[in-house]
Amino acid sequence: MQNIILIGFMGVGKGSVAREVIKQSGCIALDTDDVIESMENRAVKKIFEEEGEAYFRDLEKRVATWLAASVHDTLISTGGGFFKVPNLKEIGKVVLLHASFETIYERITEHPNAKQKIKKRPLFKSKKKARALYEEREPAYMAVADIVIDVTDKPVEAIAREILEKVAQ
Ligand code: S3P
Repeated sequence: MQNIILIGFMGVGKGSVAREVIKQSGCIALDTDDVIESMENRAVKKIFEEEGEAYFRDLEKRVATWLAASVHDTLISTGGGFFKVPNLKEIGKVVLLHASFETIYERITEHPNAKQKIKKRPLFKSKKKARALYEEREPAYMAVADIVIDVTDKPVEAIAREILEKVAQ
């Protein structure tokens, strides 16, 4: 299996989809935010607070270099801004999880742990700013994706199946 890289906006469901792909395929998986938190021994939120966004983006680039050189046969879920690393396409097949901003916003705010979900995402604190970021990024996500999956109103089981079918084609 070629690496699969899951990209998409914060809250679109990359984590839940990754867990379901693992369940259905038995593949090995990692998450770029988890790798960064291990490297730094602190949460993404703390890294943003203590070092600023530029520092975090540099860490993403370092992780991307390592992924391209050393990681194979793996499902890689990413933070919402990871897709901007210059070598993304060298890492594997890029799968975009797509939904409208309103769908994503509802998904986050209606979650039982909504407060925590928003708190841990420094770029999701203001709805207005998050929407502007979504609008700025959406065309760029589309441009870099090899496969686009519309996740609106689909159960994770169906999304995971669709990903596995499309990457095998
Ligand atoms: C970010 C998304 C976050 C995390 C960081 C920055 C972004 O990951 O990497 O807060 O720039 O969109 P999720 O997409 O998992 O929320």
